[in-house]
Amino acid sequence: MTDQGFPVGEIDTSRPHPARMYDFFLGGRDNYEVDRDAAQRVIDVFPDIVPTTRANRRFMHRAVRHLAASGIRQIIDIGTGIPTAPNTHQIAHEVSEDVRVAYIDNDPIVATHAGAHLLGAGNTGFFLGDLREPESVLQHPTIGELIDFDQPVGLMLVAVLHFITDKEDPAALVAAYRDALPAGSQLVLSHATSDFHPAEAGLDEARDVYKDRRATATVTTRSHAEVLPFFDGFDLVEPGLVQIPLWHPQGGAAPEAEELRHVGTYGGVGVKR
Ligand SMILES: C[S@@+](CC[C@H](N)C(=O)[O-])C[C@H]1O[C@@H](n2cnc3c(N)ncnc32)[C@H](O)[C@@H]1O
Repeated sequence: MTDQGFPVGEIDTSRPHPARMYDFFLGGRDNYEVDRDAAQRVIDVFPDIVPTTRANRRFMHRAVRHLAASGIRQIIDIGTGIPTAPNTHQIAHEVSEDVRVAYIDNDPIVATHAGAHLLGAGNTGFFLGDLREPESVLQHPTIGELIDFDQPVGLMLVAVLHFITDKEDPAALVAAYRDALPAGSQLVLSHATSDFHPAEAGLDEARDVYKDRRATATVTTRSHAEVLPFFDGFDLVEPGLVQIPLWHPQGGAAPEAEELRHVGTYGGVGVKR
């Protein structure tokens, strides 16, 4: 156990983990050989994975600023990822130190780094939990300590739903979280898509790497029409569900066509009715 009481004995280095592969794509060092081999294979067949993950992280930053600026003071961030500064609470605290953040991920490696990077602000918490188990996530004591369900909540599902298969019914899972939130809560969501890449770009081969290397989760890319229903019950904030560089671009400047060519992710923010 770490000082924070998180289990560390469960780190499995025999299979690639999406959290550790994502860390590699972002240039981090919290990954193992098995992850680096798989992630490098993804980069070899689909080089756009690198600009896509970086654009996703920038989308996350802009969306959190939006949440805090629009008055949200409590956030549930599911599929947090290995801490990569700035993390959700650091961005939110630039707007207001009062924002409380509950971080949840199902990968033990995130737990080992949470103490040093996600906690300590006094109003953040982390626990190991699975998006596919909404009841146990929503009833976790850390949620009880940090989240007041009578006040609007920011729910972040950023680059995580593509690790949920159709069989696991991602729309029903999002709806289970939505139903626990009061009106005025906001959903921040991003999702991998093949809509922006031609077949020869290598995205299919990249998806196969997760399957062939027996990664702990596989990737399901979805079209605009398939991602949109995740916002059922929410009114999309302008400009809607869009390729992520187009969502509230930094400084209001339109992204370069070159950037758009490389980014295979949709993102949006919705306000619960
Ligand atoms: C691509 S990373 C995204 C990290 C961060 N949200 C971001 O966008 O920068 C996906 C994260 O989701 C986590 N994850 C995947 N499936 C999950 C599940 N069923 N429950 C909780 N977390 C999950 C992975 O462990 C990983 O840390």
